[in-house]
Parts: sequence; structure tokens; C-alpha cells
Amino acid sequence: MSRRNTGLTVRAPAKINLHLGVGGVRPDGMHPLLTVYQAVSLYDDLAAAPAEAWRLGLTVDDHVAAHEVPLAGDNIVDRAADLLAAHHGLARADHGAAVHITKAIPVAGGMAGGSADAAAALVALDRLWGLETCDDDLLAIAAELGSDVPFALLGGTAVGTGRGEIVTPVADHGSWWWVLALSARGMSTPAVYRHFDELHPDASPEPPPADALLAALDSGDPARLAATLHNDLQAPAFDLRPDLADRIARGEAEGALRGLVSGSGPTCVFLCGSGEHARAVAAALRVPDPATGAEPVVLVAHGPVAGAHVVEGLAAH
Ligand code: C5P
Repeated sequence: MSRRNTGLTVRAPAKINLHLGVGGVRPDGMHPLLTVYQAVSLYDDLAAAPAEAWRLGLTVDDHVAAHEVPLAGDNIVDRAADLLAAHHGLARADHGAAVHITKAIPVAGGMAGGSADAAAALVALDRLWGLETCDDDLLAIAAELGSDVPFALLGGTAVGTGRGEIVTPVADHGSWWWVLALSARGMSTPAVYRHFDELHPDASPEPPPADALLAALDSGDPARLAATLHNDLQAPAFDLRPDLADRIARGEAEGALRGLVSGSGPTCVFLCGSGEHARAVAAALRVPDPATGAEPVVLVAHGPVAGAHVVEGLAAH
């Protein structure tokens, strides 16, 4: 039987930041971070099949705004393909692929959806093109693509330092349940960081530590984790989107152990004590907006989960 390469599908998770400690802005405009990432069970899938030319397509879940995803030349998946080919000295013109992304992670939601797609593309194209890039090189290419991309490769629960791109796994003995309250409108990450600078013109270059949170993760105790969740971008995000503060208060009033803005927002995440508890809080938050009648999209997820991984391999028959 002849071997025929029919492509593969790679799944990559959304992230939330359990601790996002931000230091004063660096000369390059980026902020030193001490963050603790967790990968959660909301995924984008990227399918890649052999093709002469490069094609990129998109299908989105109902709650994802398709028009916010740039597909013409400026997609982070295009850049991932360019960097991976360049790393191996390959001409892009000779390396096509038919790539299709199925998005469930909200765009500009503070959950690193674009980063998940980039990580999935690196894993998929590395296999499709038979490159066998070593893990360290893949992480370095990921870091060039964006601060959150290395974590999307790694998954699990990890500390991020530098601008977030230096990732180290940490001990996590919990199985954590989250309610994710999505927002119809995205938020600009640079705008939230700029407002952080306005609020903290004298911020120390050393971001605040996460020792108590790391101990809580090690303990597996949701009440301890709830007490130590921290996000330095939450106050600037509240200033730009005052509705988020109301949202957090509502989730906590409905019994969540703690609510927090995810990354630079606007997704709000709520820690719950069990899957059942999370489903009850989610149901309580799914009430129509009195002004618009629109029902908010509220999902339940658990973490930690794996980083970008192949779910349907290269069929070889
Ligand atoms: O690295 P990434 O492309 O995800 O960053 C997007 C933007 O977020 C940056 O251009 C910068 O404005 C801001 N950012 C930052 N400090 C970080 C990470 C991101 O200021 N550590």
C-alpha cells in the first residue's frame, strides 16, 4: 500500500492568568512579567493538509467574531509559517499547506486565542513539512511570534517571566473548575498596558511575586487558590470597561469562590469548587442584558490541560 500524507489536526488551548504581576515598562515598550498561566479546556483546532500553495481558512463557533480575525496576509499563522520555514532555510514559495482554523477561543478576549493558533501552526507545519524541529527551537520561534505563544505550546500550569515568553512548569495538584464569561467586544492588549503605565508611572521593574499562589496550586485547595488570584491589569481594564467590575461582582454574588479578569480582558473567569458548582454559577450568569436582550456567552472549563497537541495524525496509508 502506498503511503499518502493526508494531513493532521492540532488542538491548542486557551490560557488564563492566575497571577499577572506587571513591572514598570522596559525601554523596548514591553513590560516585565511574573505570571502564572493555566491552560483550560477551550480549544482552537488547526487542520493542515498538503497543498502546492498556501491557503488559510476559518470556521468560528457562534460566540467568536469572525470579522475580527485577519486572514489576508497579516494572520499570526502566516507569520508562524514564515518563521518556521526561515528557521530551516526553506523557501516559503516551495512550502504550501491548506490550513483551516476552527476557533472557539474568543478574539481579543485575554485568553491568547491568536497565540493558540500560532502554537498549533508550528506543531502542525513542523510535522506536515517533516522538519523535526527540536523543542527548544520551537519555543524560541514561538517567543518571536508573541509573548504567550511558548505557553500555548507547553500547556499545563507554568510560570512566565521575561515578557511572559520564558515558561517553566510548576507543581499543580488541583483539578480546577472555571466559569468563563465572554464579552461581545474585544479589548486591545496594548491599550490596557498603556493605561497600566498611566496608573503606575513609578512601577518597580520587579513584578510582584506569586509565592502564595504557587503554594495554593501545590495544595490543590480551591479556597486557597481563590484567595491568592491576582491580576495587575484588572484595575486598568475596569477603567476602560466599567461593566467588567459589575460582572465580577455578579459572579461572586452567585457563589463563585472568586472572579478575576483574564489577562488584559475582557473575559472574566470565576473559580468554582467543582464541575457542578461551575455549571450552577454559569447558569445564573446566563441572563439576558436588560438593555439589549442579548444573553451573555458563559462557558464552563477545567484546567490544567495539555498544550498544542496532535489530535488526528498524518494518515499514512
Ligand atoms: O507579545 P505580544 O505580541 O502578545 O504583545 C502584544 C502587545 O501587548 C505588545 O505590543 C505590548 O503592547 C503589550 N505587552 C506588553 N508587555 C508584555 C506583553 C505584551 O506591554 N509583557
